[in-house]
Amino acid sequence: MKVLIVGSGGREDTIAWKLSKSSKVSEIFIAPGNGGTSKYGKNINISVENIDGLKEFAIQNKIDLTVVGPEIPLTMGIVDEFEKNGLKVFGPSKEAAKVEGSKEFAKDIMKKYNIPTAEYETFTDYNKAKAYLEEKGAPIVIKADGLAAGKGVIVAMNLDEARAGLKEIMEDKIFGESNSKVVIEEFMDGEEASILAFTDGMTIVPMVSSQDHKRIFDGDKGPNTGGMGTYSPAPIVTDELSEIVYKEILVPMIEGLKKEGITYKGVLYAGLMIKDGKPKVVEFNARFGDPETQVVLPKLESDLFDILYAVAENKLSDIDIIWSKEATVCVVLASNGYPGNYEKNKEITGINTATSNGLLVFHAGTKEENGKIYTNGGRVLNVVASGDTIKEAVCNVYKNIDSIKFENMFYRKDIAHRALKK
Ligand code: AMP
Ligand code: GLY
Repeated sequence: MKVLIVGSGGREDTIAWKLSKSSKVSEIFIAPGNGGTSKYGKNINISVENIDGLKEFAIQNKIDLTVVGPEIPLTMGIVDEFEKNGLKVFGPSKEAAKVEGSKEFAKDIMKKYNIPTAEYETFTDYNKAKAYLEEKGAPIVIKADGLAAGKGVIVAMNLDEARAGLKEIMEDKIFGESNSKVVIEEFMDGEEASILAFTDGMTIVPMVSSQDHKRIFDGDKGPNTGGMGTYSPAPIVTDELSEIVYKEILVPMIEGLKKEGITYKGVLYAGLMIKDGKPKVVEFNARFGDPETQVVLPKLESDLFDILYAVAENKLSDIDIIWSKEATVCVVLASNGYPGNYEKNKEITGINTATSNGLLVFHAGTKEENGKIYTNGGRVLNVVASGDTIKEAVCNVYKNIDSIKFENMFYRKDIAHRALKK
């Protein structure tokens, strides 16, 4: 079978690595890919937003399955366009991807179907939003309605911060005219975890749990990023909690969407806040998480291709999905300056030493030129280790991480700190 993977991050490199192990996959193409994905197949120079270009490529090359990594092509309707042309594709339709593409849409569905989440109101009028802020007081959370590359959420601990954030989104329109609607919601206290699930709209199969580290610096300080590291499983997600998440969040969400006339297929990612053993939804994403995928897929013992193909064919109930019990930890190696401005084109060395010491090294912002690897993004590499326990996996990852080098490289030294305290 020929597979096309859409995307260029660590998530897509991990998906390519895993699919390359399937005996059913004969050829892999990655559009546009990165300096690592070319190990598993052919990088194709088509951007993730060029839906027509991707579709033409899939038709001409008789692609059997396309796997969509990032949210932007999903919210643009890549799945609808592919299916219209008889192409098999893994991911939710444009309407279904609104669970990520519009905070208002996601919150309204949650409210209607009694899915636990923070209290909220939606505003298009700045003065009304401001009055609501003043009435509720801090701490409070303000979210731009649409996609904002992880930057559209302001967790304001005081009213000044909240006022400034609201003005930026609604008056200064920093995320654009069309993205000046906001959701203002109650601040939730607790510990976060992610549960991703495979679903074909009928069967829902949760993956192993994980926890991301969104802040740039150790001790969860500094600005939010796309994610600086992950580990799996997250001990806060007990068997009992998993059961609650399945029954009170995943099932009602998929069923609720169905009642709205929307079949959700692909990965449904539930970002959770957990307090006193009870989960509330922080957000839904319409795709695999990055860097959650990097700790989850290495534990998948079943064939990933079988699962993705079964979802595309509405036959997920036919598949047994098995996970290993080991613990995994991922540390993101970033370019100095990220999540702000950073330099590119720094040569990276030592990847082979790290892999020969038992680490998995997934590429994110990298490119290959004349057999050498260079930095090409803010999050550059994802270094993953496993162990019998989280502690062992953490030791394994940090023991060998410094064999990898590039100018101004940095990484968090405290990934999994919450699990280690338990
Ligand atoms: P989101 O993009 O909605 O996941 O938000 C980004 C991050 O902001 C989350 O991972 C949380 O750390 C934080 N956050 C979002 N909503 C809330 C909330 N209602 N209460 C507390 N923290 C929140
Ligand atoms: N790591 C967070 C996300 O993928 O949205």
